[in-house]
Amino acid sequence: MQDYREFLEEILITEADLQKRIAELAQEIDKDYIGEDLHLVCILRGGILFLADLMRHLKTPNTIDFMAVSSYGAGARQTTGQVRITMDLKEDINNRNVLLVEDIVDSGYTIASVVEFLNMRHPKSLKVCTLLDKPERREVEVAIHYRGFTIPNKFVFGYGLDIDEYYRNLRFIGAVNPNHYQPPD
Ligand code: PRP
Repeated sequence: MQDYREFLEEILITEADLQKRIAELAQEIDKDYIGEDLHLVCILRGGILFLADLMRHLKTPNTIDFMAVSSYGAGARQTTGQVRITMDLKEDINNRNVLLVEDIVDSGYTIASVVEFLNMRHPKSLKVCTLLDKPERREVEVAIHYRGFTIPNKFVFGYGLDIDEYYRNLRFIGAVNPNHYQPPD
């Protein structure tokens, strides 16, 4: 696997800035759910680092669950608009305060579809929390209630986001220089 330093164009968001903003988001969320419980639904796989850090800051009593959807064709970086559930939630969300936790909203198809699927199960409330928002790429309108950072239309990686499934463990968000990136064999 190639060393990311060979294709890193720039660090868009440092580890310190990520952690500071995530703590702020948790405070915003806590303010809105006073006296309530929160059920955090993480969309695999990109959202796991964000979920883990966000929940450590939350004071609101919370539970977690996971779901996976496929929004992209194998290996493709273009959205198809076709979203299907590949792994469903373990628990019923009926009458619960659900907060969807995502790493990035790009075209918006993933989150729009998940909101549609989950609303059919009659949660008490359903809100969206995304670490990154790339509005220039939006193709479908979605309501974002909590947003970490608005980012430019660059191919980003790290902190949960992959390139060809690698580099999710990096602690910062970087932008790729495509001329210097070599896909794994
Ligand atoms: C990425 C990301 C979001 C989605 C956003 O997931 O984690 O779920 O794409 O794109 P959209 O707004 O255009 O729908 P991906 O399908 O790459 O899976 P991963 O989280 O497992 O990397």
